[in-house]
Amino acid sequence: MEFDADPWEPATVAVVGAGYVGLTTSACLASMGHDVTCADIDPEKIERLRNGEIPIVEAGLGEVVVHAVAADRLRFVVGAAAAVADADIVFLCVPTPQDEDGSADLSYIEAAARQIGPVLRPGAIVVNKSTVPVGSARVVERVLQRSDVSVVSNPEFLREGTAVFDFLHPDRVVIGGDDEAAARAVANLYSPLNTEILITDAASAETIKYAANGFLAMKISFINAVAAMCEAVGADVADVIEGIGSDHRIGRAFLRPGPGWGGSCFPKDSRALVSIAADHGYDFSMMRGVIEVNDEQRLRMVAKIARAAGRDMALDLPLDGVAIGALGLTFKAGTDDLRESPSLAILDHMAAAGAEITAYDPTTVGVLDRVQTDRLGTLRLANDALGAANGADVVVILTEWPEFAELDLDAVARVMRGCSLVDTRNMLDPGSVRSAGLDYDGVGRR
Ligand code: UGA
Repeated sequence: MEFDADPWEPATVAVVGAGYVGLTTSACLASMGHDVTCADIDPEKIERLRNGEIPIVEAGLGEVVVHAVAADRLRFVVGAAAAVADADIVFLCVPTPQDEDGSADLSYIEAAARQIGPVLRPGAIVVNKSTVPVGSARVVERVLQRSDVSVVSNPEFLREGTAVFDFLHPDRVVIGGDDEAAARAVANLYSPLNTEILITDAASAETIKYAANGFLAMKISFINAVAAMCEAVGADVADVIEGIGSDHRIGRAFLRPGPGWGGSCFPKDSRALVSIAADHGYDFSMMRGVIEVNDEQRLRMVAKIARAAGRDMALDLPLDGVAIGALGLTFKAGTDDLRESPSLAILDHMAAAGAEITAYDPTTVGVLDRVQTDRLGTLRLANDALGAANGADVVVILTEWPEFAELDLDAVARVMRGCSLVDTRNMLDPGSVRSAGLDYDGVGRR
Protein backbone atom coordinates (compact mmCIF):
# COMPACT_ATOMS: atom_id res chain seq x y z
CA MET A 1 0.00 0.00 0.00
CA GLU A 2 1.31 3.49 -0.82
CA PHE A 3 1.65 5.85 2.11
CA ASP A 4 0.95 9.61 2.21
CA ALA A 5 2.36 11.03 5.42
CA ASP A 6 0.18 13.05 7.82
CA PRO A 7 1.55 16.44 8.93
CA TRP A 8 4.63 15.62 11.04
CA GLU A 9 4.37 15.56 14.82
CA PRO A 10 6.93 14.31 17.32
CA ALA A 11 5.87 11.21 19.24
CA THR A 12 6.67 9.78 22.66
CA VAL A 13 8.57 6.57 22.01
CA ALA A 14 9.97 3.78 24.18
CA VAL A 15 12.58 1.33 22.94
CA VAL A 16 13.08 -1.95 24.78
CA GLY A 17 16.64 -3.27 24.29
CA ALA A 18 19.86 -1.25 23.97
CA GLY A 19 21.80 -3.50 21.58
CA TYR A 20 22.96 -2.13 18.21
CA VAL A 21 19.40 -2.12 16.82
CA GLY A 22 17.70 -0.67 19.93
CA LEU A 23 20.38 1.92 20.59
CA THR A 24 20.54 3.03 16.96
CA THR A 25 16.74 3.20 16.76
CA SER A 26 16.57 5.23 19.99
CA ALA A 27 19.30 7.67 19.06
CA CYS A 28 18.14 8.20 15.48
CA LEU A 29 14.44 8.65 16.37
CA ALA A 30 15.52 11.17 19.03
CA SER A 31 17.73 12.98 16.50
CA MET A 32 14.65 13.25 14.24
CA GLY A 33 12.79 15.11 17.03
CA HIS A 34 10.92 12.34 18.86
CA ASP A 35 11.03 11.97 22.63
CA VAL A 36 12.66 8.60 23.39
CA THR A 37 13.19 6.45 26.47
CA CYS A 38 15.46 3.46 25.91
CA ALA A 39 15.39 0.52 28.35
CA ASP A 40 17.65 -2.46 28.92
CA ILE A 41 17.67 -5.21 31.56
CA ASP A 42 21.42 -4.75 32.13
CA PRO A 43 21.91 -2.03 34.81
CA GLU A 44 25.63 -1.79 34.05
CA LYS A 45 24.97 -1.07 30.38
CA ILE A 46 22.42 1.61 31.30
CA GLU A 47 24.88 3.21 33.73
CA ARG A 48 27.55 3.35 31.01
CA LEU A 49 25.08 4.84 28.53
CA ARG A 50 24.05 7.49 31.06
CA ASN A 51 27.74 8.39 31.33
CA GLY A 52 27.94 8.78 27.56
CA GLU A 53 29.84 5.50 27.01
CA ILE A 54 28.73 3.48 23.97
CA PRO A 55 29.15 -0.24 24.68
CA ILE A 56 29.70 -1.26 21.02
CA VAL A 57 31.86 -0.14 18.07
CA GLU A 58 29.34 1.56 15.75
CA ALA A 59 30.31 4.52 13.54
CA GLY A 60 28.68 7.82 14.52
CA LEU A 61 26.46 6.31 17.23
CA GLY A 62 28.28 8.03 20.12
CA GLU A 63 27.79 11.49 18.61
CA VAL A 64 24.08 10.95 17.92
CA VAL A 65 23.48 9.61 21.45
CA VAL A 66 25.38 12.45 23.16
CA HIS A 67 23.58 15.08 21.06
CA ALA A 68 20.13 13.58 21.73
CA VAL A 69 20.78 13.27 25.48
CA ALA A 70 21.99 16.90 25.62
CA ALA A 71 18.83 18.00 23.79
CA ASP A 72 16.79 16.11 26.44
CA ARG A 73 15.16 13.94 23.81
CA LEU A 74 16.81 10.65 24.90
CA ARG A 75 17.10 8.99 28.30
CA PHE A 76 18.07 5.52 29.54
CA VAL A 77 16.26 3.43 32.15
CA VAL A 78 16.60 -0.08 33.60
CA GLY A 79 13.72 -2.44 32.76
CA ALA A 80 11.03 -2.35 30.07
CA ALA A 81 8.18 -1.46 32.43
CA ALA A 82 9.97 1.73 33.53
CA ALA A 83 10.18 2.98 29.93
CA VAL A 84 6.73 2.51 28.47
CA ALA A 85 4.13 4.15 30.72
CA ASP A 86 3.92 7.42 28.73
CA ALA A 87 4.81 6.01 25.31
CA ASP A 88 2.56 6.27 22.24
CA ILE A 89 4.76 3.75 20.44
CA VAL A 90 6.96 1.01 21.97
CA PHE A 91 9.69 -0.70 19.90
CA LEU A 92 10.77 -4.20 20.90
CA CYS A 93 14.46 -4.54 19.93
CA VAL A 94 15.45 -7.56 21.99
CA PRO A 95 17.49 -10.54 20.74
CA THR A 96 15.88 -13.48 18.96
CA PRO A 97 18.68 -16.06 19.23
CA GLN A 98 18.60 -19.36 17.45
CA ASP A 99 17.09 -22.42 19.12
CA GLU A 100 18.77 -25.81 18.82
CA ASP A 101 16.52 -26.77 15.88
CA GLY A 102 17.39 -23.60 13.89
CA SER A 103 14.12 -21.81 14.74
CA ALA A 104 14.11 -18.38 16.41
CA ASP A 105 13.82 -18.31 20.20
CA LEU A 106 11.07 -15.84 21.14
CA SER A 107 11.57 -15.97 24.90
CA TYR A 108 13.09 -12.44 25.16
CA ILE A 109 10.26 -10.92 23.10
CA GLU A 110 7.64 -12.76 25.15
CA ALA A 111 9.28 -11.71 28.44
CA ALA A 112 9.35 -8.06 27.31
CA ALA A 113 5.69 -8.23 26.21
CA ARG A 114 4.71 -9.76 29.57
CA GLN A 115 6.45 -6.93 31.44
CA ILE A 116 4.95 -4.06 29.45
CA GLY A 117 1.42 -5.49 29.01
CA PRO A 118 0.04 -4.22 32.33
CA VAL A 119 1.78 -0.82 32.07
CA LEU A 120 1.05 0.32 28.49
CA ARG A 121 -1.23 3.31 28.19
CA PRO A 122 -4.57 2.78 26.38
CA GLY A 123 -4.23 2.91 22.60
CA ALA A 124 -0.44 2.37 22.63
CA ILE A 125 1.22 0.66 19.65
CA VAL A 126 3.83 -2.08 20.10
CA VAL A 127 6.31 -2.50 17.24
CA ASN A 128 8.34 -5.67 16.61
CA LYS A 129 11.69 -4.51 15.27
CA SER A 130 13.54 -7.68 16.21
CA THR A 131 13.74 -10.26 13.43
CA VAL A 132 10.91 -12.59 14.32
CA PRO A 133 9.26 -15.59 12.64
CA VAL A 134 6.16 -15.08 10.60
CA GLY A 135 3.21 -14.96 12.99
CA SER A 136 5.11 -13.29 15.87
CA ALA A 137 2.96 -10.15 15.85
CA ARG A 138 0.10 -12.45 16.87
CA VAL A 139 2.25 -14.07 19.58
CA VAL A 140 3.02 -10.63 21.06
CA GLU A 141 -0.68 -9.69 20.90
CA ARG A 142 -1.56 -12.83 22.87
CA VAL A 143 1.11 -12.23 25.52
CA LEU A 144 0.21 -8.55 25.97
CA GLN A 145 -3.42 -9.45 26.75
CA ARG A 146 -4.52 -5.94 25.80
CA SER A 147 -7.35 -5.59 23.29
CA ASP A 148 -6.79 -1.79 23.20
CA VAL A 149 -3.12 -2.11 22.08
CA SER A 150 -2.10 -2.78 18.45
CA VAL A 151 0.97 -4.71 17.36
CA VAL A 152 2.80 -3.99 14.10
CA SER A 153 5.97 -5.33 12.54
CA ASN A 154 8.69 -2.90 11.39
CA PRO A 155 11.77 -4.95 10.43
CA GLU A 156 15.18 -3.30 10.51
CA PHE A 157 17.68 -3.35 7.64
CA LEU A 158 20.65 -1.96 9.59
CA ARG A 159 24.14 -3.28 8.89
CA GLU A 160 26.45 -3.39 11.89
CA GLY A 161 29.13 -0.75 11.44
CA THR A 162 26.90 1.51 9.31
CA ALA A 163 23.70 1.24 11.37
CA VAL A 164 23.28 5.00 11.96
CA PHE A 165 23.74 5.80 8.27
CA ASP A 166 21.38 2.98 7.27
CA PHE A 167 18.71 4.18 9.72
CA LEU A 168 18.80 7.77 8.48
CA HIS A 169 19.15 6.88 4.75
CA PRO A 170 17.00 3.78 4.27
CA ASP A 171 16.16 2.34 0.83
CA ARG A 172 12.68 1.79 2.27
CA VAL A 173 10.78 1.45 5.52
CA VAL A 174 8.50 -1.59 5.84
CA ILE A 175 5.56 -1.58 8.25
CA GLY A 176 3.22 -4.53 8.58
CA GLY A 177 0.03 -4.63 10.59
CA ASP A 178 -3.61 -5.48 10.40
CA ASP A 179 -4.61 -2.22 12.15
CA GLU A 180 -4.16 0.39 9.43
CA ALA A 181 -4.31 3.39 11.79
CA ALA A 182 -1.52 1.89 13.93
CA ALA A 183 0.62 1.19 10.85
CA ARG A 184 0.11 4.80 9.68
CA ALA A 185 1.08 6.15 13.11
CA VAL A 186 4.35 4.20 12.97
CA ALA A 187 4.91 5.29 9.36
CA ASN A 188 4.55 8.92 10.45
CA LEU A 189 7.52 8.51 12.80
CA TYR A 190 9.70 8.12 9.72
CA SER A 191 8.21 10.89 7.58
CA PRO A 192 11.21 13.27 8.13
CA LEU A 193 13.38 10.71 6.28
CA ASN A 194 11.55 11.25 2.98
CA THR A 195 11.87 7.63 1.99
CA GLU A 196 9.61 5.03 0.42
CA ILE A 197 7.29 3.60 3.07
CA LEU A 198 5.64 0.28 2.33
CA ILE A 199 2.66 -0.76 4.43
CA THR A 200 1.74 -4.46 4.34
CA ASP A 201 0.05 -7.06 6.53
CA ALA A 202 2.15 -8.35 9.45
CA ALA A 203 3.05 -11.73 7.87
CA SER A 204 4.37 -10.04 4.70
CA ALA A 205 6.53 -7.58 6.67
CA GLU A 206 7.98 -10.45 8.73
CA THR A 207 8.66 -12.42 5.53
CA ILE A 208 10.30 -9.38 3.85
CA LYS A 209 12.97 -9.30 6.57
CA TYR A 210 13.93 -12.96 6.19
CA ALA A 211 13.72 -12.82 2.40
CA ALA A 212 16.02 -9.76 2.30
CA ASN A 213 18.71 -11.39 4.46
CA GLY A 214 18.28 -14.74 2.65
CA PHE A 215 18.68 -13.08 -0.75
CA LEU A 216 21.80 -11.16 0.31
CA ALA A 217 23.34 -14.35 1.76
CA MET A 218 22.48 -16.09 -1.53
CA LYS A 219 24.32 -13.39 -3.55
CA ILE A 220 27.46 -13.87 -1.45
CA SER A 221 27.31 -17.69 -1.60
CA PHE A 222 26.77 -17.40 -5.36
CA ILE A 223 29.85 -15.25 -5.92
CA ASN A 224 31.92 -17.46 -3.58
CA ALA A 225 30.88 -20.48 -5.68
CA VAL A 226 31.73 -18.55 -8.88
CA ALA A 227 35.13 -17.68 -7.33
CA ALA A 228 35.75 -21.40 -6.76
CA MET A 229 34.86 -21.99 -10.39
CA CYS A 230 37.19 -19.19 -11.50
CA GLU A 231 40.06 -20.89 -9.67
CA ALA A 232 39.21 -24.18 -11.41
CA VAL A 233 39.00 -22.76 -14.94
CA GLY A 234 41.67 -20.05 -14.64
CA ALA A 235 39.28 -17.06 -14.78
CA ASP A 236 39.44 -13.92 -12.60
CA VAL A 237 36.46 -13.25 -10.33
CA ALA A 238 37.06 -9.46 -10.32
CA ASP A 239 36.50 -9.39 -14.08
CA VAL A 240 33.48 -11.66 -13.75
CA ILE A 241 31.95 -9.33 -11.10
CA GLU A 242 32.59 -6.32 -13.35
CA GLY A 243 31.01 -8.15 -16.28
CA ILE A 244 27.86 -9.29 -14.48
CA GLY A 245 27.57 -6.35 -12.04
CA SER A 246 27.15 -3.81 -14.82
CA ASP A 247 23.91 -5.57 -15.78
CA HIS A 248 21.45 -3.46 -13.76
CA ARG A 249 19.31 -6.54 -13.13
CA ILE A 250 22.22 -8.06 -11.18
CA GLY A 251 24.11 -5.07 -9.70
CA ARG A 252 27.52 -5.04 -8.01
CA ALA A 253 26.42 -4.91 -4.35
CA PHE A 254 27.05 -7.92 -2.09
CA LEU A 255 29.18 -9.68 -4.68
CA ARG A 256 32.45 -9.46 -2.77
CA PRO A 257 34.00 -12.94 -2.48
CA GLY A 258 35.45 -13.75 0.93
CA PRO A 259 35.72 -16.30 3.70
CA GLY A 260 31.93 -16.73 3.79
CA TRP A 261 29.22 -14.69 5.47
CA GLY A 262 28.83 -14.56 9.24
CA GLY A 263 27.64 -12.25 12.01
CA SER A 264 24.61 -12.18 14.24
CA CYS A 265 22.08 -12.08 11.38
CA PHE A 266 22.72 -14.03 8.16
CA PRO A 267 23.59 -17.39 9.77
CA LYS A 268 20.65 -17.22 12.19
CA ASP A 269 18.14 -15.85 9.68
CA SER A 270 19.07 -18.20 6.83
CA ARG A 271 18.60 -21.19 9.14
CA ALA A 272 15.34 -19.72 10.46
CA LEU A 273 14.10 -19.28 6.88
CA VAL A 274 14.67 -22.99 6.22
CA SER A 275 13.03 -23.87 9.53
CA ILE A 276 9.97 -21.59 9.05
CA ALA A 277 9.45 -22.95 5.53
CA ALA A 278 9.72 -26.54 6.80
CA ASP A 279 7.21 -25.81 9.59
CA HIS A 280 4.76 -24.79 6.88
CA GLY A 281 5.44 -27.80 4.67
CA TYR A 282 7.91 -26.24 2.20
CA ASP A 283 11.43 -27.60 1.73
CA PHE A 284 13.47 -24.44 0.95
CA SER A 285 16.24 -26.46 -0.70
CA MET A 286 17.79 -23.41 -2.38
CA MET A 287 18.40 -21.79 1.02
CA ARG A 288 19.87 -25.05 2.32
CA GLY A 289 22.28 -24.92 -0.64
CA VAL A 290 23.21 -21.30 0.18
CA ILE A 291 24.12 -22.37 3.74
CA GLU A 292 26.04 -25.42 2.49
CA VAL A 293 28.14 -23.30 0.09
CA ASN A 294 28.93 -21.00 3.02
CA ASP A 295 30.09 -23.89 5.22
CA GLU A 296 32.23 -25.20 2.34
CA GLN A 297 33.75 -21.76 1.81
CA ARG A 298 35.33 -21.84 5.28
CA LEU A 299 36.84 -25.26 4.59
CA ARG A 300 38.07 -24.06 1.19
CA MET A 301 39.93 -21.23 2.97
CA VAL A 302 41.51 -23.72 5.40
CA ALA A 303 42.66 -25.90 2.47
CA LYS A 304 44.04 -22.80 0.72
CA ILE A 305 46.05 -21.87 3.82
CA ALA A 306 47.35 -25.46 4.14
CA ARG A 307 48.45 -25.37 0.48
CA ALA A 308 50.22 -22.06 1.13
CA ALA A 309 52.07 -23.81 3.98
CA GLY A 310 52.98 -26.68 1.65
CA ARG A 311 50.82 -29.14 3.63
CA ASP A 312 48.33 -31.77 2.47
CA MET A 313 44.90 -31.57 4.16
CA ALA A 314 44.41 -35.32 3.67
CA LEU A 315 47.00 -36.00 6.43
CA ASP A 316 46.26 -36.34 10.14
CA LEU A 317 47.05 -32.99 11.84
CA PRO A 318 48.02 -31.47 8.46
CA LEU A 319 49.07 -28.14 9.99
CA ASP A 320 51.15 -29.57 12.82
CA GLY A 321 53.90 -27.09 13.69
CA VAL A 322 52.75 -24.50 11.12
CA ALA A 323 52.73 -20.93 12.49
CA ILE A 324 49.84 -18.78 11.24
CA GLY A 325 49.63 -15.00 11.57
CA ALA A 326 45.91 -14.19 11.40
CA LEU A 327 44.77 -10.65 10.57
CA GLY A 328 41.20 -9.88 11.65
CA LEU A 329 38.83 -11.66 14.01
CA THR A 330 35.52 -9.78 13.76
CA PHE A 331 32.92 -11.06 11.25
CA LYS A 332 33.50 -7.94 9.14
CA ALA A 333 35.24 -4.57 9.47
CA GLY A 334 33.69 -1.65 11.36
CA THR A 335 32.34 -3.70 14.27
CA ASP A 336 33.74 -5.43 17.36
CA ASP A 337 31.22 -8.27 16.92
CA LEU A 338 32.76 -11.76 16.96
CA ARG A 339 29.45 -13.66 16.68
CA GLU A 340 29.56 -16.40 14.03
CA SER A 341 32.71 -14.84 12.65
CA PRO A 342 34.07 -16.78 9.63
CA SER A 343 37.52 -15.77 10.85
CA LEU A 344 37.09 -17.62 14.17
CA ALA A 345 35.54 -20.64 12.42
CA ILE A 346 38.53 -20.86 10.05
CA LEU A 347 41.00 -20.45 12.91
CA ASP A 348 39.17 -23.18 14.85
CA HIS A 349 39.58 -25.58 11.92
CA MET A 350 43.26 -24.69 11.58
CA ALA A 351 43.87 -25.13 15.31
CA ALA A 352 42.18 -28.55 15.15
CA ALA A 353 44.59 -29.37 12.30
CA GLY A 354 47.55 -28.56 14.56
CA ALA A 355 48.41 -24.95 13.58
CA GLU A 356 49.90 -22.46 16.04
CA ILE A 357 48.02 -19.20 15.65
CA THR A 358 48.76 -15.62 16.63
CA ALA A 359 46.01 -13.20 15.72
CA TYR A 360 45.56 -9.44 15.56
CA ASP A 361 42.34 -7.47 15.37
CA PRO A 362 42.14 -3.69 15.93
CA THR A 363 39.09 -4.07 18.21
CA THR A 364 40.69 -6.47 20.68
CA VAL A 365 43.84 -4.45 21.41
CA GLY A 366 43.82 -3.26 25.03
CA VAL A 367 40.45 -4.92 25.63
CA LEU A 368 41.28 -8.62 25.38
CA ASP A 369 44.50 -10.57 25.49
CA ARG A 370 42.80 -13.81 24.54
CA VAL A 371 39.74 -14.87 22.57
CA GLN A 372 37.81 -18.04 23.39
CA THR A 373 37.01 -20.21 20.36
CA ASP A 374 35.22 -23.55 20.04
CA ARG A 375 38.01 -26.00 19.32
CA LEU A 376 41.04 -23.92 19.95
CA GLY A 377 40.31 -23.03 23.54
CA THR A 378 42.09 -19.71 23.80
CA LEU A 379 43.78 -17.83 21.02
CA ARG A 380 47.00 -15.82 21.43
CA LEU A 381 46.57 -12.17 20.45
CA ALA A 382 49.12 -9.68 19.13
CA ASN A 383 48.97 -5.89 19.49
CA ASP A 384 49.51 -5.15 15.82
CA ALA A 385 49.69 -6.80 12.40
CA LEU A 386 53.48 -7.16 12.48
CA GLY A 387 53.21 -8.86 15.88
CA ALA A 388 50.87 -11.46 14.34
CA ALA A 389 53.15 -11.90 11.30
CA ASN A 390 56.26 -12.33 13.44
CA GLY A 391 57.61 -15.89 12.96
CA ALA A 392 54.61 -16.94 10.83
CA ASP A 393 54.86 -19.42 7.98
CA VAL A 394 51.65 -18.04 6.47
CA VAL A 395 49.97 -14.69 7.05
CA VAL A 396 46.21 -14.74 6.42
CA ILE A 397 43.92 -11.70 6.02
CA LEU A 398 40.51 -12.73 7.38
CA THR A 399 38.67 -9.42 8.04
CA GLU A 400 38.73 -6.45 5.64
CA TRP A 401 40.00 -3.81 8.13
CA PRO A 402 41.24 -0.87 6.00
CA GLU A 403 44.61 -0.85 7.82
CA PHE A 404 45.43 -4.23 6.23
CA ALA A 405 45.35 -2.58 2.80
CA GLU A 406 48.16 -0.32 4.07
CA LEU A 407 50.38 -3.12 5.42
CA ASP A 408 54.14 -2.50 5.11
CA LEU A 409 54.67 -5.67 3.05
CA ASP A 410 58.48 -5.48 3.17
CA ALA A 411 58.33 -5.36 6.96
CA VAL A 412 55.84 -8.27 7.00
CA ALA A 413 58.17 -10.34 4.79
CA ARG A 414 61.14 -9.51 7.04
CA VAL A 415 59.51 -10.71 10.29
CA MET A 416 57.93 -13.87 8.84
CA ARG A 417 59.53 -17.32 9.00
CA GLY A 418 57.87 -18.42 5.75
CA CYS A 419 56.82 -16.45 2.71
CA SER A 420 53.09 -16.98 1.96
CA LEU A 421 50.24 -14.55 2.24
CA VAL A 422 46.62 -15.68 1.85
CA ASP A 423 44.16 -12.82 1.30
CA THR A 424 40.63 -14.14 1.90
CA ARG A 425 39.18 -10.64 1.29
CA ASN A 426 41.02 -9.84 -1.97
CA MET A 427 42.28 -6.61 -0.39
CA LEU A 428 45.84 -6.51 -1.63
CA ASP A 429 47.38 -6.04 -5.04
CA PRO A 430 48.98 -9.44 -5.83
CA GLY A 431 51.86 -7.70 -7.70
CA SER A 432 52.81 -5.60 -4.65
CA VAL A 433 52.76 -8.68 -2.40
CA ARG A 434 54.99 -10.58 -4.82
CA SER A 435 57.37 -7.59 -5.11
CA ALA A 436 57.90 -7.87 -1.34
CA GLY A 437 59.08 -11.46 -1.91
CA LEU A 438 55.88 -13.17 -0.72
CA ASP A 439 53.68 -15.73 -2.50
CA TYR A 440 50.11 -14.49 -2.88
CA ASP A 441 46.79 -16.31 -3.00
CA GLY A 442 43.38 -14.62 -2.96
CA VAL A 443 39.84 -15.87 -3.64
CA GLY A 444 39.01 -16.55 -7.29
CA ARG A 445 41.89 -14.42 -8.56
CA ARG A 446 44.06 -15.54 -11.42
C1 UGA B 1 22.87 -7.79 7.74
C2 UGA B 1 22.07 -7.07 6.63
O1 UGA B 1 22.97 -6.54 5.65
C3 UGA B 1 21.23 -5.92 7.21
O2 UGA B 1 20.44 -5.33 6.19
C4 UGA B 1 20.33 -6.51 8.29
O3 UGA B 1 19.53 -5.50 8.90
C5 UGA B 1 21.17 -7.17 9.37
O4 UGA B 1 21.95 -8.23 8.75
C6 UGA B 1 20.24 -7.75 10.40
O5 UGA B 1 19.47 -8.65 10.06
O6 UGA B 1 20.16 -7.22 11.52
P1 UGA B 1 25.16 -7.35 9.05
O7 UGA B 1 24.99 -8.71 9.63
O8 UGA B 1 25.53 -6.22 9.94
O9 UGA B 1 23.81 -6.88 8.28
O10 UGA B 1 26.32 -7.46 7.98
P2 UGA B 1 26.51 -7.38 6.38
O11 UGA B 1 27.23 -6.14 6.03
O12 UGA B 1 25.26 -7.66 5.68
O13 UGA B 1 27.52 -8.61 6.18
C7 UGA B 1 27.15 -9.95 6.52
C8 UGA B 1 28.27 -10.90 6.19
O14 UGA B 1 28.42 -11.03 4.77
C9 UGA B 1 29.64 -10.50 6.72
O15 UGA B 1 30.29 -11.66 7.19
C10 UGA B 1 30.34 -9.92 5.50
O16 UGA B 1 31.74 -10.00 5.56
C11 UGA B 1 29.77 -10.80 4.39
N1 UGA B 1 29.79 -10.18 3.05
C12 UGA B 1 29.03 -9.08 2.80
C13 UGA B 1 30.56 -10.75 2.06
O17 UGA B 1 31.27 -11.76 2.27
N2 UGA B 1 30.52 -10.23 0.79
C14 UGA B 1 29.75 -9.14 0.51
O18 UGA B 1 29.76 -8.70 -0.69
C15 UGA B 1 29.00 -8.55 1.52
